[in-house]
Amino acid sequence: MRILVTGGTGYIGSHTCVEAINAGHEAVVFDNLSNSSEESLNRVRAVTGTRPVFVKGDIRDRAAVSALLDKFSFDAVIHFAGLKAVGESVSKPWEYYENNICGTLVLMDELRKHGVFNFVFSSSATVYGNPEKLPLTEDAPLSALNPYGQTKLWQEDMMRAMACADPRWHIVLLRYFNPVGAHPSGLMGEDPNGIPNNLMPYITQVAIGRLRELSVFGNDYPTRDGTCIRDYIHVCDLAAGHIAVLSKINDMPGCDAVNLGSGHGYSVLEIVHAFEKAIGRPLPYRIASRRAGDAAECYADASKAERVFGWKTKRGIDEICRDAWKWQSMNPNGYGQSAS
Ligand code: NAD
Ligand code: WQD
Repeated sequence: MRILVTGGTGYIGSHTCVEAINAGHEAVVFDNLSNSSEESLNRVRAVTGTRPVFVKGDIRDRAAVSALLDKFSFDAVIHFAGLKAVGESVSKPWEYYENNICGTLVLMDELRKHGVFNFVFSSSATVYGNPEKLPLTEDAPLSALNPYGQTKLWQEDMMRAMACADPRWHIVLLRYFNPVGAHPSGLMGEDPNGIPNNLMPYITQVAIGRLRELSVFGNDYPTRDGTCIRDYIHVCDLAAGHIAVLSKINDMPGCDAVNLGSGHGYSVLEIVHAFEKAIGRPLPYRIASRRAGDAAECYADASKAERVFGWKTKRGIDEICRDAWKWQSMNPNGYGQSAS
């Protein structure tokens, strides 16, 4: 298949390009580089032998999207492009609504005009809001806790309505749990701008000495050790999930949501200790107060993905920590500058 990968220079998109190429697909990346570097595609080449075609552009730019779709005929689209920082979305809601909602509307409008209807969307477990019942199944109630989550919810709503109105759409909404880790080569990984908001990049930057210590946000939750529990999924497993979807998407008319998670929950302290095992030394951390908006526990019922696509995670927490550390230690400054 020839696949359009929007946001394909980003963290999950670049890993998905690797899996796509390894599965014999052709990837064309469309990204405005607002949160990524084209260097990630050189790394895709280093890992696979093939550099995806890259077109720099913005999904809100109708002329650019239309020109792209005139130039290439695509069998499917994987739509990663979007802004994703929860805290930033609270301070810059307009930017999140405009980028994520307007961009997706322009993209999908041009896709339907060009006759491309196989569409895989990067949704998020954030659409479940504060979970009422665990593990989370796809039919759990949906709600938004912040503007970022609202954009995912609205995009899902838009996609359900569009598929309902036009039977040509085949849309799969993939609800990711917590993507972490890096390619086992150490050549590709997560390269956040500024101080990381998320646990795993924060931990790796403490371990490399860029940050002083980890703050564990709360140890008074009703969990086994008092810290929050999440479903961490290795980014290579997550990427492989997209390829499993592509193999079935022609048989999936309509719009269907599927969780991509491991089905297992780990606490923050369990992650810290697994990481200490991976690096062979203690990680400086302190217990801090709770972070506003954090749910105590969140993990997937991952059985639908296995049932529908024959996909499940293969890598556990030790590989996640090993690969995250390999990436960080080989690239202390991310894609900006590699270690010699
Ligand atoms: P990322 O920021 O690394 O990748 C997103 C890419 O989209 C970036 O390369 C960015 O430059 C590009 N982009 C943003 N706006 C664009 C626009 N208007 N036009 C063209 N390109 C644009 O993020 P990621 O972690 O790889 O996430 C990919 C997708 O998965 C996002 O939609 C995100 O919301 C979703 N998701 C991520 C997580 C996570 O924890 N990483 C969890 C659930 C869902
Ligand atoms: C994990 C746990 C923190 C940092 C976010 C988004 C979600 C989805 C995935 C996009 C929590 C704790 C964190 C730190 C800590 N993204 N923590 N110290 O919040 O589960 O999910 O990313 O869709 O929408 O909300 O991930 O990595 O930020 O936090 O103690 O410095 O680590 O409290 O319990 P989260 P996270």
